[in-house]
Amino acid sequence: MKLLILGANGFIGSNLIAHIVAHKPDWKIVGLDLATDKLGPLVGHRQVTFRQADMLASREWIEAQVKEADVVLPLVAIATPATYVSNPIAVFELDFEANLAVVRDCVKHKTRLIFPSTSEVYGMSEDLPYDEEESRLVTGPIHKQRWIYSCSKQMMDRVIYAYGVRGDLRFTLFRPFNWMGPKLDDVWSNKGTSSRVVSQFLSDIVHGRDIQLVDGGTSRRCFLYIDDAIDALMRILENKDGCADNGIFNIGHPGNEASIRQLAEQLLAVVKSYPDYKDTPTRIRDTTADTYYGKGYQDVDRRIPAIVQAERKLGWKPVTDFPSSLQKTVEYYMRVRPALQECHNASGG
Ligand SMILES: NC(=O)c1ccc[n+]([C@@H]2O[C@H](COP(=O)([O-])OP(=O)(O)OC[C@H]3O[C@@H](n4cnc5c(N)ncnc54)[C@H](O)[C@@H]3O)[C@@H](O)[C@H]2O)c1
Repeated sequence: MKLLILGANGFIGSNLIAHIVAHKPDWKIVGLDLATDKLGPLVGHRQVTFRQADMLASREWIEAQVKEADVVLPLVAIATPATYVSNPIAVFELDFEANLAVVRDCVKHKTRLIFPSTSEVYGMSEDLPYDEEESRLVTGPIHKQRWIYSCSKQMMDRVIYAYGVRGDLRFTLFRPFNWMGPKLDDVWSNKGTSSRVVSQFLSDIVHGRDIQLVDGGTSRRCFLYIDDAIDALMRILENKDGCADNGIFNIGHPGNEASIRQLAEQLLAVVKSYPDYKDTPTRIRDTTADTYYGKGYQDVDRRIPAIVQAERKLGWKPVTDFPSSLQKTVEYYMRVRPALQECHNASGG
């Protein structure tokens, strides 16, 4: 199998590639990304051909690779909520426009496409759980700019689905529900507030900053550990008897629901169990969405995936519970911790 993975150095791409080289010695991967830090030595692995470049400046190269590949996974996107509000146009241009060109390449060259949709396409749907075939996709008013990510992804889902129905594209759409694990984001560089919630809280704790809980942290999310997610992606890639063809799959853990406050409290407790952090000054503080994200933010209280489709068609079931997911994620970040002096310098201390 020959895969083209755009955004290969990201959270999902780097974990998927590590899994493939460990378990599928005859698969070949062509990867593209701006950076290489999460891939590390995998960049030079015999199964991996890597190009370090901007997707937006690699149009011809991408089309040539799509033509050669058996399957394409376009994972490049802006997927950080703070950016949906601070730079919505960039979200649209990258997540929708740049990826649409790749989708069209797949149609033109008849290459199978596996595309990342998102749990965010359900928006503020009141359904519990969210069902791929039945739930309405509900977003807020235009001035709540955070929905540009959800709309970009939803529009792409609809375009891909329409190409599929027309018989022009073999596709699978997968919808991650709050995946967490190693290599989520860099927690050690002290970059501030552009990370996703798990890595943002971890970064706050290891740098001794207070955790800011938006609107009391009462929103609840279902968290899925990355190993379970990669298991689902491998089943989609292997596509036994066409089980994933033209399917849409929620990939999440309905049993791992926790409030954002619980996430903060439990992450803090896990990190404090490491001697170097037992006296961390980090406290949990309340803030408002307007203060933290700006006026264009809006959110939904609960988001639970129905996973019947994935269970029935892919034979997939998540197995890692919430406490183990946190434990394993923190263990990874502690293992790759740079020398304390480097952290101190990165914190500007
Ligand atoms: N992780 C989740 O829980 C989650 C949830 C919902 C949807 N998704 C979707 O899954 C996909 C992958 O997510 P992820 O968590 O791996 O994201 P990520 O941000 O970790 O990875 C994206 C990668 O794209 C690269 N990239 C960004 N702009 C680029 C450009 N112009 N040219 C080349 N590379 C560029 C980045 O360097 C990064 O390595 C995204 O489409 C995201 O929207 C992820």
